[in-house]
Amino acid sequence: TWTPSNIIEEQVALIRSVVGDKQVICGLSGGVDSAVAAALVQRAIGDQLTCVFVDHGLLRSGEAEQVEKDYVAATNVRLVVKNVEEQFLSHLDGVEDPEQKRKIIGREFIRTFEAAARELDAERHIEFLVQGTLYPDVVESGGGTGTANIKSHHNVGGLPDDLQFALVEPLRTLFKDEVRAIGKELGLPDEIVQRHPFPGPGLAIRIIGAVDRERLDILRAADLIAREELAASGLDREVWQFPVVLLADVRSVGVQGDGRTYGHPVVLRPVSSEDAMTADWSRLPYDLIAKISNRITNEVREVNRVVLDVTSKPPGTIEWE
Ligand code: XMP
Repeated sequence: TWTPSNIIEEQVALIRSVVGDKQVICGLSGGVDSAVAAALVQRAIGDQLTCVFVDHGLLRSGEAEQVEKDYVAATNVRLVVKNVEEQFLSHLDGVEDPEQKRKIIGREFIRTFEAAARELDAERHIEFLVQGTLYPDVVESGGGTGTANIKSHHNVGGLPDDLQFALVEPLRTLFKDEVRAIGKELGLPDEIVQRHPFPGPGLAIRIIGAVDRERLDILRAADLIAREELAASGLDREVWQFPVVLLADVRSVGVQGDGRTYGHPVVLRPVSSEDAMTADWSRLPYDLIAKISNRITNEVREVNRVVLDVTSKPPGTIEWE
């Protein structure tokens, strides 16, 4: 029968037999899949695994700390952190086009990970790379039935020829809810295991306009309030994702106290979905929306207006960029 502890036991044995005494690397994104995959591999081979976390400064409030502190405390994983916020922000400086942002972030991410992998490889020869591939990803890419949990030499997208690792993909037969159950069983914090999907380019594609630190800080503050209130309402699991979007180049007139304000709007974009291919806007209670709106306009000085996105997908996408 399928239980999280059965799967863990099975995978731990499999990982040990494949990896032997070799060294393994894993990139952590802050998301559920890589977190659970790495925790499983850590359980199997301990310090033969080194995780690399690229902190590009585009994550939500508290997320980098969750990886660096809570995740490490829960798993005992050996972690290398690359703080590259400056590097990412300088490359993103003045860039408004969404696809351009994605390209820059993707390129810098690979560059950073590659440099970290190279350093690590020089120190302890690395033979395997862990990836948090799930069953739906396998099916989508035509990868067969998912019986091969660990594929041998596979060309890892983006890494150069002299940095080729064999892949370890311990989640290849699993669905998302199963991965969450395993993460919980492995003792990972709820904040990581129950996290909503979050795009690789992070908050950069939730700032409409150019990205800079000040705008990121404004968005992070508003986003944190939305997340806190959604969690407090108990409706977290009804919602697939809840992007908060900063219209950084738009200003509107408002009034606060005795004074006129001229601030930015943020958009609340809570959606319900099964797989992100289609989505509907979440019918969250108006009282919850009101609370989020009041808190954001009271607590985030630069924001004087909160609007609700009531567009389904299609025709809208989930993200605004
Ligand atoms: P859209 O906005 O196309 O998003 O409805 C569908 C799902 O994909 C996520 N998304 C991304 N994920 N890199 C990612 O890793 C990206 O560039 C990207 N763009 C969108 C989005 O959050 C949603 O879950």
